[in-house]
Amino acid sequence: TGDGGPAVRRLAEWNEENLIALAEEYETPLYVVDLDRVEENCMRLLDAFPDADVRYAVKAHSGRAVLRTVREAGLDAECASAGEVERAFDAGFPGERVQYTAVNPPAGDLDLVMERWRENPGLTITVGAEDTVERLRERGFDGRLCVRANPGVGAGHHEKVSTGANAKFGIPIERVADLATRWAADFDLVGVHAHAGSGISGEDLSAHRELVSRMGDLTREIESRAGGLEFVDVGGGFGVPYEEDEPPLDLDAVAEATREALGEVEATLAIEPGRYVVADAGVLLTRVNTVKEARDATVVGIDAGMTTLLRPAMYDAYHAIANLSAGDDAEEIDATVAGPICESADVLCEHRPLSRPDRGDVLAVGNAGAYGYEMSSTYNSRPRPAEVALSGTTVRLTRRRETLTDLTSLEQ
Ligand code: LLP
Repeated sequence: TGDGGPAVRRLAEWNEENLIALAEEYETPLYVVDLDRVEENCMRLLDAFPDADVRYAVKAHSGRAVLRTVREAGLDAECASAGEVERAFDAGFPGERVQYTAVNPPAGDLDLVMERWRENPGLTITVGAEDTVERLRERGFDGRLCVRANPGVGAGHHEKVSTGANAKFGIPIERVADLATRWAADFDLVGVHAHAGSGISGEDLSAHRELVSRMGDLTREIESRAGGLEFVDVGGGFGVPYEEDEPPLDLDAVAEATREALGEVEATLAIEPGRYVVADAGVLLTRVNTVKEARDATVVGIDAGMTTLLRPAMYDAYHAIANLSAGDDAEEIDATVAGPICESADVLCEHRPLSRPDRGDVLAVGNAGAYGYEMSSTYNSRPRPAEVALSGTTVRLTRRRETLTDLTSLEQ
């Protein structure tokens, strides 16, 4: 409430005046991403999973500065589209550190990824449907293939982010060993993959354990029938605290539970965290436009909306909010913080204690680094925000603010 939770506290080491100065210099809404924090998060993962391949799920934040930081820290790139594959190469990942996880892939994606594969045969393609394999075969692919299983175990902070039991993703796990054995004849079968969903939390590791244990069984079966696999990828979904009083995930405990549930396999364990790498490295700075008394709350109108940060509207997600401009002794009000989009879902929070804001105050929204800018849109003809990256004591504009001219530039 008062201090905006871990992400804001961390960036507040940069101190409130500096964040307000950033809002003044670059205007709002403004995403701020702390690359040192991204690096620390990578290191924490590598320390907890020293023998695993750690692959960053690019979809959480695909900006070049973040991708370069993640690459330098030693993580691989897990890409959900041809566009993300292009971004991974653009950020300097070598082909052998790029995995493309094809989700109902459009033909153009397969064409582009095949082009990249011809130049970089170390690239791995993960398939989640039998006909994707046929489509790759038609295009001449005989390279590194990974099979995505639908493990029948879902998890996540919201049903909309639970993938493990969703029919759209992967091949039912009971069919994977037969198919993989068959495909091993024509492709370089390197791994199996599954992802339960987003949001493994310290309180409930049961779904994660169950998924990993099923993947362990699958790996052993394939290893005995089709020969060795290079890796068994158990997906991402490592949670971060969004609420101010939530404890951080105990990564060592997750790592131990993962090892235990996997059992003995020859394959290397692989994980694909996205959120964990970037969530708490980012804040969104936004300015107060309007303060008005409504029937049962004070409505604080800000210049960031669901087009800037979609998560609250889409998943009822909680993001901590701090008023950076308020003094320590400011009165707390019961605030509903709303954006400028003409939709009733465009509300960042309802009935949240907040230091009384005045028009012009700068608010910081915590944990905005993951799935923040990435899910932004231009609905209501709102240009996308700018983003700056912090590294040491330097600030760099990493994405300029979109303009109204940008918005009309595609019109013919
Ligand atoms: N691997 C695969 C195959 C995935 O589908 C995902 C996320 C990840 C890894 C990374 O999951 P993470 O570690 O970030 O939880 N927009 C939603 C999250 C959707 C995640 C979709 N897949 C949100 O803002 O909560």
